[in-house]
Amino acid sequence: METLIKEITAQSIEEAVKILKNGGIIGMPTETVYGLAGAGTMPEAVKKIYAAKGRPSDNPLIAHVHESYDISRLVYIEHKYIRELIKAYMPGPLTLVMKSRGVICKEAVCGGDTLAVRMPSHKGCRALLKAADMPLVAPSANISKHTSPVTAQQVYEDMHGKIPLILDGGKCTGGIESTVLDVTEQVPRILRAGLITKEMIEKITGACEIAQHKEGDKVRSPGVKYRHYRPACETALYAADDIGGVLKRYDEECAAGKRAYIMCSDEAAKNFPGKNLLPLGGTGEEIASNLYDMLLKGEKVADIIIAVDMPREDGVYLGITNRLRKACG
Ligand code: TXA
Ligand code: MG
Repeated sequence: METLIKEITAQSIEEAVKILKNGGIIGMPTETVYGLAGAGTMPEAVKKIYAAKGRPSDNPLIAHVHESYDISRLVYIEHKYIRELIKAYMPGPLTLVMKSRGVICKEAVCGGDTLAVRMPSHKGCRALLKAADMPLVAPSANISKHTSPVTAQQVYEDMHGKIPLILDGGKCTGGIESTVLDVTEQVPRILRAGLITKEMIEKITGACEIAQHKEGDKVRSPGVKYRHYRPACETALYAADDIGGVLKRYDEECAAGKRAYIMCSDEAAKNFPGKNLLPLGGTGEEIASNLYDMLLKGEKVADIIIAVDMPREDGVYLGITNRLRKACG
């Protein structure tokens, strides 16, 4: 199958909708990462998504809808705070896990009784969802366990030959996947950290828990248990204050003839003048937005990426450290 990359226009959206309505799957941009989208009510489309990714069949998908779509058609909105969260942060990088009404097919939720729903804020994605006017289930558009793509070209590299069309909506601005929040209980619980932070959620709901995924626990968000986001090259992760360790490793790898690159924040980069760098930026938002892009650029030029961990875990840094440690740890 030939895979075409097309700019988002009325015409390419029409083409995409035709493919989706026929049970096909496509690459679509969102503000977080690119998704691999199919009709949420069509088992054949869902099966294609799992096959293209090589995704384990116990890991459910997120349903994406446009902002005028009434999500109570898909799920039961059981708590008052849910409406307030929707009003505050959607469309945006927030996914809510609620009790499903069973409209989205069981293949997409792996037979579970909950459904994750999200309203992307990306302009092109919104136009696609409006034109399709049906929920699209979409995981990140990478081969399972590889780094999630943030450009149409990066989607192409994992998915060419497997899907007919990738809509090009530019580089994703968010850069890490949406916050996944379980809102089935009285107190919401973060299953996957992201750009909508614990602090932002607490502003609306008062309290917010963070799920601890321990060995042997019943996993509430199966995706978080896998090794994840890994680039194709070797990686190593050093603590934020272990500058000496990073430099020693860099020299050793170079002496062994390897192409070593240090991936770190602009702040940390001051310690590594003259070295090969994969710079992540200054603020938390910049770092999130560049993280996957630098991992995917890095795997092309480096034999080993030596990553420097972040010195904090508050706000968006929780999502950043979670990804960085899985990708490079
Ligand atoms: O930003 C995003 O969320 C991107 C873009 C494409 O929208 N999508 C994405 O999908 O990251 P995926 O499939 O790569 O990750 C979905 C995460 C997984 O950790 C999965 O286990 C969790 O959401 N999830 C999905 N449905 C769930 C459910 N019903 N209950 C608990 N966790 C769920
Ligand atoms: Mg993913």
